Amino acid sequence: MDRTSRDKLLEVNNIEVVYNDIVQVLRGVSLAIFDGSIVALLGTNGAGKTTTLRAISGLLKPENGFIREGYVKFSGTDITNRLGTDVVKLGAVMVPEGRRVFKHLTVDENIRVGSITRKDGIQKIRRDHGAMYDHFPRLAKITNRMAGYCSGGEQQMIAIARALMAGPRMLMLDEPSLGLAPLLVKEIFANIRTINRELNTTILVVEQNAKTALGVSDYGYIMESGRIVLEGPSADLQENPDVKEFYMGVTRGGGRKSFKEVKSYKRRKRWM
Ligand SMILES: Nc1ncnc2c1ncn2[C@@H]1O[C@H](COP(=O)(O)OP(=O)(O)OP(=O)(O)O)[C@@H](O)[C@H]1O
Ligand SMILES: [Mg+2]
Repeated sequence: MDRTSRDKLLEVNNIEVVYNDIVQVLRGVSLAIFDGSIVALLGTNGAGKTTTLRAISGLLKPENGFIREGYVKFSGTDITNRLGTDVVKLGAVMVPEGRRVFKHLTVDENIRVGSITRKDGIQKIRRDHGAMYDHFPRLAKITNRMAGYCSGGEQQMIAIARALMAGPRMLMLDEPSLGLAPLLVKEIFANIRTINRELNTTILVVEQNAKTALGVSDYGYIMESGRIVLEGPSADLQENPDVKEFYMGVTRGGGRKSFKEVKSYKRRKRWM
């Protein structure tokens, strides 16, 4: 995709984030997310991926963190250190890691709750509500089930559908594939692609599953120790020998590496 021909929906410019005034976690992170695209943010444990999503979403405060340097702009509006509720109203919604559905509400109630911040009329909200079950046919069969009894994959779908009910222009997903069986991961990523195509929702997805994430995204960023160390069109990153080796578990000779080998190698080699 030609990144220059589209509008920049999200601009993260050289942000530094500290927790508790002292722990610096982001050390100058910049991202450009173009309207209508799918962008993957990859990196090892503790690289700062969740912190980046929280910084964009205005959700650092509950964790005693803030953006000390740099700025975040969404659709041209400065949202640096803005409140999470404001950011949602502007159209950027995050689905946190671990889904966090309301366990004692039904699937349908969970989905309806997502429209709470909307002001654009009951007709449109009703239409969007119905459309959720077209996007997630699996949920249409279990609308009255308590969310707490749903499987991990179903809960992930509920969390995404609930976020979509806010009518976002951009959806941020934190490790949607975490703990899911390969078939469900495939289904979730197929859902993500359809949502992007049909609703024109821009997607920023944080993943450990590099192969799948690069397979559906247009552009990717790789983070290490609070910095972006590599970026490029996903098709290029998929062919990059370092990405293949450290994130997709493929050796230079083409054989597959064991998970353990990849883990220890990741720890040893730093990108910078
Ligand atoms: N509330 C907090 N207070 C202090 N340090 C924090 C806080 N939250 C996260 N950190 C630290 O910030 C660093 C980055 O954490 P973050 O959760 O952003 O990483 P991540 O890339 O999402 O990792 P993972 O893949 O494990 O989810 C880690 O070293 C973590 O310990
Ligand atoms: Mg994380």
